[in-house]
Amino acid sequence: MMHKNDLRRFLQADDGYVPPLVADRNVYLPRRARVRQVVRENSLVRTLELVFEDQIHSSDFTYLPGQFMMLSLPHCGEAPISFSSSPTRPGGFSLSIRKAGKLTTAAQELRPGDMVGVRGPYGRPFPMADLRGRNLVFVAGGIGMAPLRSAILYCLDKGDEYGHITVLYGSKTPGEFCFMPDLTAWRQDERLTCLLTVDEGDDDWQGRVGLVTGLLDEVEMDGGRDRALVCGPGVMIRFVLERLAALGFQEDNMITTLERHMKCGVGICGHCHFENKMVCTDGPVFTRSELPDLRKL
Ligand SMILES: Cc1cc2nc3c(=O)[nH]c(=O)nc-3n(C[C@H](O)[C@H](O)[C@H](O)COP(=O)(O)OP(=O)(O)OC[C@H]3O[C@@H](n4cnc5c(N)ncnc54)[C@H](O)[C@@H]3O)c2cc1C
Ligand code: FES
Repeated sequence: MMHKNDLRRFLQADDGYVPPLVADRNVYLPRRARVRQVVRENSLVRTLELVFEDQIHSSDFTYLPGQFMMLSLPHCGEAPISFSSSPTRPGGFSLSIRKAGKLTTAAQELRPGDMVGVRGPYGRPFPMADLRGRNLVFVAGGIGMAPLRSAILYCLDKGDEYGHITVLYGSKTPGEFCFMPDLTAWRQDERLTCLLTVDEGDDDWQGRVGLVTGLLDEVEMDGGRDRALVCGPGVMIRFVLERLAALGFQEDNMITTLERHMKCGVGICGHCHFENKMVCTDGPVFTRSELPDLRKL
């Protein structure tokens, strides 16, 4: 692995390179994006606000909630990371990264001004058009809030196009919630119901303690009409989908996102294979009806 100081020099180097248009034809060639801001969400998660500096890429770039980018750092490889920002707020985009292995650990060291590689957007997004007019229930665990935050901000920015929004968010500890400024704003916004719970409280925590599935029993929902969007660890997704089904949600009304190890991100290598699907192109967003066996999540 590259020495930390060398990596820092590389990231800060600005040789004025602008990727040529032909780069768009090579799916594996990343574009360069600059880190505009780094937000420390908690001890393991950083949100990077990224911008394309060249006109070619900043003007034609668009995405939808639920899609992801392949983020690359020199000598660390690439990793799929969901958008945590909403395309309704142009001028850049955010990726929220939880420390897991080689690349995601190196990403914690990034500073404003550094350059990273990105390619995308990839994947099937949340069906934002089909969700119009519906009450929406968002259920998140841990870093799973990242893609859901993108969809929540999108709905809020679209004003009356969407019905009431319920956000149910579980974290291991109070210190591990991400997007605290958003959570604070959402809890004061009458368009939303936002409930938080932790697996384990601390001396300062006066909120709920228990699994996020328990929050489903505290809110009013109509399984026949409402839509649920769920993201988090596999086991959490499984139990939430099972509970939602017990509460009357139809299989097509429950939407989730899957994580699988990826290489190409564009349906070529087969690395992200799940059942008879490629998570990178058929997903990562799936309805419950597209996921026959929840025990494999
Ligand atoms: C669509 C999608 C969206 C995602 N969005 C986010 C997000 O918004 N934020 C976020 O923090 N994370 C997100 N992830 C997860 C993120 O991509 C991984 O944490 C990241 O790829 C880890 O990369 P790394 O280089 O840091 O870890 P690695 O060094 O690759 O290792 C991470 C762990 O995975 C194991 N591993 C690595 N490769 C393989 C393999 N091929 N087969 C089996 N095990 C392997 C390693 O042993 C280690 O335990 C997303 C994943 C997907 C698929
Ligand atoms: S990551 Fe290569 S096919 Fe999905």
